[in-house]
Amino acid sequence: QKGGYPSFMAKEIHEQASAVADTLRGRMENGRLHLDEMKIDPALLRSIDKIVVVACGTAANAGSVVKYAIEHWCRIPVEVELAHEFRYRDPVVTEKTLVIAISQSGETMDTLMAVRHAKEQGAKVVAICNTRGSTIPRESDAALYLNVGPEIAVASTKAYLGQIGACYLLGLYLAQERGNFFPEEIAEIMHDLEGLPDKVQAVLDNAAQVEQLAHDMADATSVLFLGRHVGYPTAMEGALKLKEIAYIHAEGFAAGELKHGPIALVDEGQPVFIIVPSPRGRDSLHSKVVSNIQEIRARGARTMVIAEEGDTDVEPYADVVIRVPATRTLFAPLLTIIPLQIFACELATAKGLDVDQPRNLAKSVTVE
Ligand code: F6R
Repeated sequence: QKGGYPSFMAKEIHEQASAVADTLRGRMENGRLHLDEMKIDPALLRSIDKIVVVACGTAANAGSVVKYAIEHWCRIPVEVELAHEFRYRDPVVTEKTLVIAISQSGETMDTLMAVRHAKEQGAKVVAICNTRGSTIPRESDAALYLNVGPEIAVASTKAYLGQIGACYLLGLYLAQERGNFFPEEIAEIMHDLEGLPDKVQAVLDNAAQVEQLAHDMADATSVLFLGRHVGYPTAMEGALKLKEIAYIHAEGFAAGELKHGPIALVDEGQPVFIIVPSPRGRDSLHSKVVSNIQEIRARGARTMVIAEEGDTDVEPYADVVIRVPATRTLFAPLLTIIPLQIFACELATAKGLDVDQPRNLAKSVTVE
């Protein structure tokens, strides 16, 4: 059942290239997106003036990643909110709001209550879900399924990549239907999306380096994660994985926030993962994050850097460099999270923990 892997989590991590391919399959043709499941009137999609993403845990981190893409492509403001916070704060939701509810199980009670609340206010709801026939897609106006197959391990991995992939399809579809793009632009982005499964596989093929690192660090008591732009939610997700299955104190920060407080945590030997943006990006984020690595290294941190192939700027300040293939900035989260998933999974395994059934957690949280 585990296909020769020591845990379902390890198996699901290693299935991620085909998972991403399965999410994308059959939804793009001749440079256009066809989301047949999107049973929402295109006129209504053209009229929306705000998107609110509601989700919990890993699904919320996926939402935080896709905010960058949807705002960039569609020029619609996107808010991402933990479903349990959204429901209880009288949020501004109207008939012109599109709510995206992300849930692997489709049964998370907090997310379901947020969906019901949004519908009561007249909003349209699209569910991004893995489990067919589950409650959240049934109660939503439309559903887009991940098609990544059942996820057994409590800690979500392949569904996270599927959630990001499905939301990217939704964002591109919205941009297409609203006329935000020239057709050739959308075709180019889709071409790059289709190339992602091979790049995911390339990261998985390098798993041994991270596995060794995890074994060497089995005694760690605290690990920090830093990222910027789409690297920020990736840092949050890397920290969540380590907390939930390895029971290690872990925190994800926006790298720019470092000097506003968290740098006080950094002392001799503190392990820190840093997700570095592409040096080919239009802005100066790459050099800013490289400076952050330099600053924490000077204070004794052990720096484990996730950087694009060919990025040599990080080398002088990195104790370990983990390489990922070059891709569009917005697609990098589908690659940079993988070493962090492998790290958490291997470290928990090295500690002799039950990776698939972490203490105190359930796969689907059906109570508020
Ligand atoms: C983390 C994890 C949880 C879930 C969260 C939402 O690895 O599995 O944080 O992501 O409970 O679950 P779904 O997506 O089923 O709504």
